[in-house]
Amino acid sequence: MEDLKIKIPPEWKRSVEEIDGHGGPVLVMGAQGSGKSTFCQFLTGHFTRQGKVVAWIDADPGQPFLGPPAALSLAVYAEPKDLLKERKALAMSFVGDTSPAGHLLEMITGLQKLYRRAAALDPGLILVNTCGLVNGAAARDLMFHEIDGLSPQYIVALESGKEVEHLLAPHSHRAGLLVIRISPSPDGKILSRDARRVARERRFKEYFRGAGFHDLALSDVGVHGPGLGTGERLGFWDVNRLSQIVQGIVVHAEISADALFMLVNGEYEGEELYTAREQYKVREVTVLKQSEMDHLLVGLNDEKNLCLALGIMRDIDLRDQSIRLISPLRDMARVRHLSIGTLRVNPAGSELGRW
Ligand SMILES: Nc1ncnc2c1ncn2[C@@H]1O[C@H](COP(=O)(O)OP(=O)(O)OP(=O)(O)O)[C@@H](O)[C@H]1O
Ligand SMILES: [Mg+2]
Repeated sequence: MEDLKIKIPPEWKRSVEEIDGHGGPVLVMGAQGSGKSTFCQFLTGHFTRQGKVVAWIDADPGQPFLGPPAALSLAVYAEPKDLLKERKALAMSFVGDTSPAGHLLEMITGLQKLYRRAAALDPGLILVNTCGLVNGAAARDLMFHEIDGLSPQYIVALESGKEVEHLLAPHSHRAGLLVIRISPSPDGKILSRDARRVARERRFKEYFRGAGFHDLALSDVGVHGPGLGTGERLGFWDVNRLSQIVQGIVVHAEISADALFMLVNGEYEGEELYTAREQYKVREVTVLKQSEMDHLLVGLNDEKNLCLALGIMRDIDLRDQSIRLISPLRDMARVRHLSIGTLRVNPAGSELGRW
């Protein structure tokens, strides 16, 4: 691994040899900057040098080694030199944000889908690189279900103290699971919050370089997100009535059995949403401002809801019922699902906030 300028502590070498003996799946966990991605590269280098194919699932939507942020990616490594160049993802699953908080279901189901895809390739090793979220209730839930769903042969826990012990404890009696605890390399560096953001911006910018504008008809796709495209469109009379109730400009409204979804232009009176809820007899009212949808990340997904490409939403044409977006995807004909994320970014990579 000299080419990659990785310095390998002896215990990293021992653990890789042990994994070589028993095989995977291997799940690598540890706090931010603990060396997860570096360890995965080392492990991949070791296996590919022996002619074994490694299916690497990147389950870190914040600082992915593979693919763009806000998605999970699967790539296959057949030779050590594959590590030296950017790998094109074989499959992706859209998360919708760079932070898994608020997207735990997308994280879990995405990992499952990519794992099934990886297993179908019958590789020499399936490797899962997880994200650095190790503290708090979301981390506990996420890691519990990632391990539960994957049922790995090995967990490699990178920790200098007890940073991930609370995440390992629930699995102490899991049949067949082997846990290897190793220390982060002394050569590891923990990036500052700003440096992590800059790294994400660079990845987004590279991803959207050369992307073009596309129009996607809402009738051509199933939409998953805040409610758009899931109900019956309300007509002019109701839109007017709702505009009066919320004291704003409602430009689009839909009603389904449980919810009313509205798109508004500008400000509105949030206090009045309960009136809309009462009058339309729904459990929930969701309101989105048009400005909040502008630049929202979307997943352009295929018939199995695997992500073909990321997109950036720019405009909703309410008359034509179509969405104008920016994406590097050339052939929009394969898009069957539109998954609406929560993070807003521009094509230059800058993160613009969340709705
Ligand atoms: N063994 C090593 N030799 C040299 N540099 C290392 C080593 N381990 C980690 N580093 C460096 O430390 C930094 C953090 O490592 P890495 O990105 O692998 O951690 P991570 O746990 O994947 O972080 P994140 O949570 O941000 O994804 C990187 O700049 C990496 O190059
Ligand atoms: Mg990493």
